[in-house]
Amino acid sequence: MGETDKRKIAAVVLAAGKGTRMKSSIQKQYMELAGKPLLCHSLDAFERSPVDEVIVVTGIGEEKFCRETIINPRGFSKVTKIVPGGKERYHSVYEGLRAAAGCDYVLIHDGARPCLSQAVILAAIEGAVQYSACVIGVPVKDTIKVADDHGFAETTPDRSRLWQIQTPQAFSYELVFQAYEKLFQSLENQKGITDDAMVVEQMTSCKVKLIQGEYSNIKVTTPEDIAVAEAFLNLRKSKG
Ligand code: CTP
Ligand code: MG
Repeated sequence: MGETDKRKIAAVVLAAGKGTRMKSSIQKQYMELAGKPLLCHSLDAFERSPVDEVIVVTGIGEEKFCRETIINPRGFSKVTKIVPGGKERYHSVYEGLRAAAGCDYVLIHDGARPCLSQAVILAAIEGAVQYSACVIGVPVKDTIKVADDHGFAETTPDRSRLWQIQTPQAFSYELVFQAYEKLFQSLENQKGITDDAMVVEQMTSCKVKLIQGEYSNIKVTTPEDIAVAEAFLNLRKSKG
């Protein structure tokens, strides 16, 4: 990877959500999936990757449970910190970024995306080095329509320009950290923030590169996603 060898790369793995749409007794990030807790799949992927350091962001008060029950028994050598997150995803990201101070590049990843491959991690790192800001995504396969207030089709955007955005979202650390600092300077800035690229798009002049990843990199959100994620993970296992 040449130039990146000397650079310090951190990953912030988000696991501070409540998982309300999963409606499960155990929070989705800790649910068993293809033989281990859901969160451990992406931690395993980062463990095998060129990432130097992993920060896990967990729910407030869940740090001890996460360390003792999820992280320590599996001996992840790259997990250096487990920090509490916040109310919205962007609050959790900010806590993770603060804990990652000192790195050159940072990959922000939803712990709820267990099917993270090495190819996608490498693409995100290379994108961050080349463009300072990039997100992994896939071109949409379905036609997307914008609805009016009454549930009727209003417009149909040109599908060839639509991407479904996933994580990792990867950045030069200083760029994304400054963007997040600015985000918290006013409540107005924080309206409708759903991903990290939006923060960089709105708070800086840096353009965010879209990098094609894999359709299998799904976010486990509702119960039917469990079966799909397990199928992808087992398929990968059988291919070796
Ligand atoms: N997340 C987080 N902090 C929050 C909200 C979300 O760290 N305050 C994380 C989740 O743990 C997840 C990722 O962001 O890894 C994407 O969020 P989502 O899929 O919406 O998960 P949840 O918020 O947990 O689920 P739900 O919205 O159904 O409650
Ligand atoms: Mg959520």
